[in-house]
Amino acid sequence: MKGDVVPPARCSVLTMRSLAIDTHSDTSSTRRSGQLTREISSESIERLQMANNFAHIPVLASEVTDFFAHLPVGVVVDATLGGGGHAELILSANPNVRLLGIDRDAVARSAASSRLARFGERVRVSAGTFGELRDIRENAADFVGTDPIVGVLADLGVSSPQLDDPTRGFSFREDAPLDMRMDSSTGFTAAELITTLDARELTQLLREHGEGRFAPAIARAVIATAPQTTGELVAAVERAVPMGARRRGHVATRVFQALRVRVNDEEGQLEAMLSGALDLLAPEGVLVVISYHSGEDKVVKAQLATAATGGCTCPVALGCVCGAVPRVRLLKASAIMASDEEIAQNPRARSARLRVAWKVPA
Ligand SMILES: C[S@@+](CC[C@H](N)C(=O)[O-])C[C@H]1O[C@@H](n2cnc3c(N)ncnc32)[C@H](O)[C@@H]1O
Repeated sequence: MKGDVVPPARCSVLTMRSLAIDTHSDTSSTRRSGQLTREISSESIERLQMANNFAHIPVLASEVTDFFAHLPVGVVVDATLGGGGHAELILSANPNVRLLGIDRDAVARSAASSRLARFGERVRVSAGTFGELRDIRENAADFVGTDPIVGVLADLGVSSPQLDDPTRGFSFREDAPLDMRMDSSTGFTAAELITTLDARELTQLLREHGEGRFAPAIARAVIATAPQTTGELVAAVERAVPMGARRRGHVATRVFQALRVRVNDEEGQLEAMLSGALDLLAPEGVLVVISYHSGEDKVVKAQLATAATGGCTCPVALGCVCGAVPRVRLLKASAIMASDEEIAQNPRARSARLRVAWKVPA
C-alpha cells in the first residue's frame, strides 16, 4: 500500500511516480487479465501535464457524500475514480472508510493520485475496468484484506477532461483522430470499429441510441466514408441528415454516443459491474450509480428492481408466493436528479440520474 498515492506538490515527477504505481498494480493484474496491460512509456508529456489540470466537477456531490458519510468501518470502492472528486468528498466525510479507486484511464488515475495523496494509506488507486469488480478481493487483496465492502460508487460515462482533450476523439467539437477509447492502451478505436460493421449492424447500433429514420442513411454514409477523424465522421453524418430534419443539439450527438458505448463495451461493463457490486457489498452496504443517458439508466433501474424483489414475479394482487428473497432495498423509489442551481453551475449534471440501493442483511 505504501506510496499508492503521491503528494501533489512536485507535480510532474510525482505524477510519473503515481503512474509507475499504477503500472505496478497493472503488472500484477495482467497475470489475471490481458485487458489490464499498460505501458507507462506510452504516456506523452502532454498527457502528464493534462493530468495535473484535470478539471471535472463531481455531480450530485452533496447527495453522494450523504450516502457514504455514515458507513461503518470498511472499504468503499469508487469504480469510476476519474479525477477523484467524489472520492475526496467521501474520504473527508467519513473517517471510518478506506477507498479503492478504479479507473481504466491513465490520465484520470494520475490526477486522482495527486488529489488524494493527503489521505495516504487510506487510498489505493488501481488500473482496471469496473466490469472486473467481482474480482477485487483477489486483484487488490493487499488493500482490501478481509474488510467488508461497505459502499460502491459508479459515476458512469466519461469525464470532462476526456471530452475536452481534443486528442481523445470523444468530441464532435474538435477535429481529432477518431479514437474514443477510455483506455488508450488497448482495444479498437472508433475508426477501426466502423470498418468491422456492415450497414445493417451500424443502423441497429444507432437505433439503440435513439437515432430515428435517418439511421440507415447515416450508417451507409459513415461506412462509405470510413472516417479516420471526428471531423470526417461529423461530415458524413451531416451529408446523411437534411438540414430541415435536424433535431435540437448537434446532429452527430447520438452517433458519437453510440460509437463510444460500443468501443468501450459500456453495456457489458455496466451489467458486470452491477452484478459484481451486489454480490460484493456487505449487509447494510450502499450502492450508488449515476448514469447519464436513458439506456444506462434503464439497465440500472431494471437490475436494481430485480434485486429489490429478489426476482419475484408473482402478481402484486396475490402477494409473493414464490419465496423470493429481496437482496436490496431501494433508498429512493425514483432517480435523484440535479437541482436547477447545480445545473446552472455544471451543465453536465442536467442528464445525471442517481439511483441508490441498500444491501439487505442476510
Ligand atoms: C464521470 S467520470 C468520474 C468522475 C469522478 N466521479 C470524479 O468525481 O472525478 C467517469 C470515469 O469512469 C471511468 N470509467 C468509465 N468506464 C469505466 C470502466 N468500465 N472501468 C473503469 N473505469 C471506467 C472513466 O475513465 C472516467 O474517468
